[in-house]
Amino acid sequence: MIKVRNLTKLYGTVKAIDNLNFDVKAGEIVGFLGPNGAGKTTTMRILTCFMPATSGDVQVAGFDVFENAYEVKKQIGYLPEVPPLYGEMTVRTYLTYVAKLKQVERSHISQAVNRVIERCHLAEVQNRITGHLSKGYRQRVGLAQALVHDPKLLILDEPTVGLDPKQIIEIRQLIRELSGDHTVLLSTHILPEVAQTCQRIIIINEGKIVAVDTYAELSQQLRKTDKIELHLQKMEGAISKLKAIPGVIEVSAIPNQEHALLVECQVDEAIRNKISKTVVEQNLGLLEMKVQTYSMEDVFLKLTTDEKGTAS
Ligand SMILES: Nc1ncnc2c1ncn2[C@@H]1O[C@H](COP(=O)(O)OP(=O)(O)OP(=O)(O)O)[C@@H](O)[C@H]1O
Ligand SMILES: [Mg+2]
Repeated sequence: MIKVRNLTKLYGTVKAIDNLNFDVKAGEIVGFLGPNGAGKTTTMRILTCFMPATSGDVQVAGFDVFENAYEVKKQIGYLPEVPPLYGEMTVRTYLTYVAKLKQVERSHISQAVNRVIERCHLAEVQNRITGHLSKGYRQRVGLAQALVHDPKLLILDEPTVGLDPKQIIEIRQLIRELSGDHTVLLSTHILPEVAQTCQRIIIINEGKIVAVDTYAELSQQLRKTDKIELHLQKMEGAISKLKAIPGVIEVSAIPNQEHALLVECQVDEAIRNKISKTVVEQNLGLLEMKVQTYSMEDVFLKLTTDEKGTAS
């Protein structure tokens, strides 16, 4: 559905994105994750024909964004960083206006508008002036205008910004419901967002792609060792016995926690079994044993900071 090849954008001398290559398949929900200034909005503006690239190729639904902007725009629903509202229109008038612009058939317009009002939970504000809405409601109207012509592809630039926690859950649910029939590319710097909503993640940092994969794969790749937390009743001899297990790399006390040890070992189930066996055999009184997993934050920080290290 989206094919990006060697895409580069310069703002004057600032290289906002640098030779990007990625694909998004039909029906996928892909998260575009990166810190502030990474180049997410820049990429999305090029994909949606709002701005030309400096070099490279982009195809959306088989159409070239540079040569066939009209066709591309028809396929896309775009929620920009700042929703494009006309302050003096009511929500319903505005959505009707957008539906006409997007060439929804005249006889289907009111049905299409009703559908997005319902989906984006806008019924109670449909007759209010968009300029008077709170930030969260403006964001929902922004999402509704992106959906009104039922596009195949949705490009959402930080769709949950400004929403309250309840709305965030609703919008994520809505985005998940769109998968299958729709293709979604959404940007965010909120890590749980991609873990919960997206099937695949593209991590971008300083204009370059640093990883493309599923969250599970990304955290697996980064996991070179297991870290196991042990909470024991007795500590006598524990460190030396654990260190003696083949495959155990390091055993250390966890600061500020009594009778707690952190065991770092090679990723191997047999070694984990041996650790729990040793603790039981030595009568150390096992209170708790847990494997520390990489959180989304760890994955993100590791990828974005490693890349900085190699680039400088
Ligand atoms: N119109 C512009 N003129 C000059 N530089 C720009 C312009 N727009 C963006 N940039 C620069 O391009 C880089 C990428 O910006 P972009 O807005 O694409 O990042 P982003 O990933 O969307 O960040 P954020 O998470 O803050 O929205 C930044 O260094 C930014 O300062
Ligand atoms: Mg942005």
